[in-house]
Amino acid sequence: MKDTDKRVESPEQVRIALADVRGEVRLAEPMSRHTSMRVGGAADAVVIPQDEQDLKVLLAGAFQQGISVFALGGSNLIVRDGGIRGIVVKLSHLQSVRREGLHLHAQAGIAFPKLSQTALSHGLSGLEFAAGIPGTLGGAIVMNAGTGEGEIAQVLHSVKMLDLEGHEKVFDREALFFEYRSSKLPAGMIVAAEMLLKEGDAAEIKQRMDASLKRRRETQPLQYANAGCIFKNPPGEAAGRLVEQLGLKGRRVGEAEVSPLHGNFIVNRGKATAQEVLDLIREVQEQVKAARGIEMELEVKVVGEA
Ligand code: EPU
Repeated sequence: MKDTDKRVESPEQVRIALADVRGEVRLAEPMSRHTSMRVGGAADAVVIPQDEQDLKVLLAGAFQQGISVFALGGSNLIVRDGGIRGIVVKLSHLQSVRREGLHLHAQAGIAFPKLSQTALSHGLSGLEFAAGIPGTLGGAIVMNAGTGEGEIAQVLHSVKMLDLEGHEKVFDREALFFEYRSSKLPAGMIVAAEMLLKEGDAAEIKQRMDASLKRRRETQPLQYANAGCIFKNPPGEAAGRLVEQLGLKGRRVGEAEVSPLHGNFIVNRGKATAQEVLDLIREVQEQVKAARGIEMELEVKVVGEA
C-alpha cells in the first residue's frame, strides 16, 4: 500500500487495531532492520501475520482505526529517516506454493529466488530470470520486477488481493496494467498469485538460472547493502552506463556511494542515512539531466517521513 502519509495520532489506536492479531507485533521498529538498503527510521508497528486470515483481521482493524497499512517487500525500497506512520506488514508466514499442471499458485511472501527454485524443481520454465532478484513475490508484482531475460507480468495469470477492509478480490493480469517496472494495482495488498509457466527441461532451466546468477554476481555490488537498481533504464539507454560515462561511479555523500562496480546501484558502506542516499540520487539525476538532458526516473520506491 502506498498511503504512508496519514498520521497516527495515538499509539492506543495502533494497539486497538492490532488487538485481535495473532502474529508477531513489534512497536516502534526501525525499518533499517527490514530493508535491504539498511536505512530508514522506525515504523509505528511492524507486524508479521500468522496467515491470510490473520492479515484480514489486521486490515479490518486498521481500517476501523483509520491507520495506514504498508506491505513490505524490503528490497527496491528506501524508507526515509523519519520512519513510517502506521503499520508495516511483513508476509514472512505467507510462503506456500502449490503446483497444478502448468500453474504455480504462490503466496505473496515467498522470496522471489525461492519461487524460481520451486519452478525448477517442478521442471517448469518462465521464472529463470527471478533466480537472483531479491525481495518477495508480492513486491515483485507491484513493480513488475524483471531483467533483460523476462519480467513477472509475462508469466502472471492472476493476482489475489485483499482490499483496505480485508476483503478478497482476484484480478486477471490484464486488469493490472503492467508496464516496464510498473503496474496499476487497486488499493490493498497482494496475498497470492497464480503463474502460468511452460514445461521445460530441468537441466536447461538450471543452466539459465545459473548464468543469470553468475552475471549478477560479476556485475552487481551484492556484498554491500543496496536497494537494487535505483533508476529505470531510460528508453534506449542504460542508467548504469550513463552514470559511468559521467564519471559518477564512486561518488559519495556520507556513507552512501554510487557503486564503483555498477553505476545504477547505490551502496550503503555502513551507517548511511536515507537522506544521504536521497541526496546522492538527486545529485546523479541533476548531473545526468544537465549533461544529457535525460530524466532519470526512480525504480526504487521512496516512502515514509523525512
Ligand atoms: N553498464 C555500464 N556501466 C555500468 C553498468 C552497466 O556501462 O556501471 C552497461 C553494461 O555494460 C550493459 C548495460 O549498461 O551494456 C546494461 O547493464 P546491465 O546488463 O548490468 O543491466 P541493467 O540494465 O543495468 C537490468 C535490470 C537489473 C537486472 C539486470 C540483469 C533495470 C533498471 N535493471 O540492469 O535489475 O538485475 O538487468 O539482467 O531494468 C533491479 O531491478 O533492481 C535490477 C538491478
